[in-house]
Amino acid sequence: MFAAALLCSPVHATETEEDLPPGPGRSETFMFCVACHGLELIKRQSQSRDGWDDLLKLMVTRHGMNALEPDEYKLILDYLAANFPVRSNPGGGWRNPFTN
Ligand code: HEC
Repeated sequence: MFAAALLCSPVHATETEEDLPPGPGRSETFMFCVACHGLELIKRQSQSRDGWDDLLKLMVTRHGMNALEPDEYKLILDYLAANFPVRSNPGGGWRNPFTN
């Protein structure tokens, strides 16, 4: 419990909701996720819906995020899946920086 609180120092206090793409679920995503880390960590991810699902569960099981209510969970998951989907990336996880 305390470890999570310590991790959550508001070092990213300069970021605002507007730093995320607009859409339903944006405020909730901002409020829940920016407590512990910057938005860049989220914005540079690209995941399938299942991938985001796993990530949200990981935040709870590994990083001490409070579990979300089912309707909030769905809202945030929908938001993340819609705004940070898998980029066209036929080769799998690794992208050649020189061919993009
Ligand atoms: C209780 C704290 C906490 C909350 C709340 C939290 N996270 Fe995290 N998250 C972490 C920690 C700790 C890491 C690991 C940080 C690092 O590697 O620098 C992390 C890492 C991540 C990563 C990077 C994973 C990777 O493999 O590189 C993503 C993406 C992420 N979080 C998304 C989210 C999203 C989306 C939310 C909101 C639903 C959220 N986090 C809320 C603590 C939290």
